[in-house]
Amino acid sequence: MFALGTPRSKSRYVNEVLKPHPNMKMLDVGCGPGHILDYLPPLEYTGIDLNRKHIAFATERYGNRGRFMVGNAADDLKQEAGAFDIINVSALLHHMSDDECTSLFRALKPLLKPNGRILTFDNVWLPKQRAIAKMINSLDSGLNIRTPESYILLTDGLSLDVETKVFHDLLRIPYDHFVMILTNRSE
Ligand SMILES: C[S@@+](CC[C@H](N)C(=O)[O-])C[C@H]1O[C@@H](n2cnc3c(N)ncnc32)[C@H](O)[C@@H]1O
Repeated sequence: MFALGTPRSKSRYVNEVLKPHPNMKMLDVGCGPGHILDYLPPLEYTGIDLNRKHIAFATERYGNRGRFMVGNAADDLKQEAGAFDIINVSALLHHMSDDECTSLFRALKPLLKPNGRILTFDNVWLPKQRAIAKMINSLDSGLNIRTPESYILLTDGLSLDVETKVFHDLLRIPYDHFVMILTNRSE
């Protein structure tokens, strides 16, 4: 999303899905070069990515806006239990196998504050999908684009409240995006 998309689509994702507030603690999983920070208010931001080059760029460009680390979000954040209001997982799940997604969610849930939220954003297969959207999906480098039902199944057993949203109009071309809002209701 933050590597691609237009300023308008990125603003809509931030304002309609992430809904950040100043002083929130946010974790950005697979933050890439950190471009989401162009759309966020001042908040306590942590970006993590496996890719050293992305983190080097992000640190150089946005180092005064937050903390960046090279690492695997499924393994390297155990010391951050209960720390975050929002965890952004944007444009990751459709690049990952079911097992990888399940391990990631299991690792992320304990990092949430009570009522904290994990937000996911991905390409999606839909019934009666517009031809251009189907063609773009078939060209995507992510090999695990799923249906809404298959994305929701990844959250089974996590005891997170699941809300979903489909956007049909984030881009100027006919395309669809699927969002999950996973809320931690445990105390
Ligand atoms: C397609 S990019 C998305 C970047 C950005 N979130 C966006 O919306 O444009 C996926 C990024 O996730 C990173 N990544 C994948 N699995 C990860 C994991 N388990 N922990 C941290 N980063 C991961 C990759 O290195 C890559 O930079």
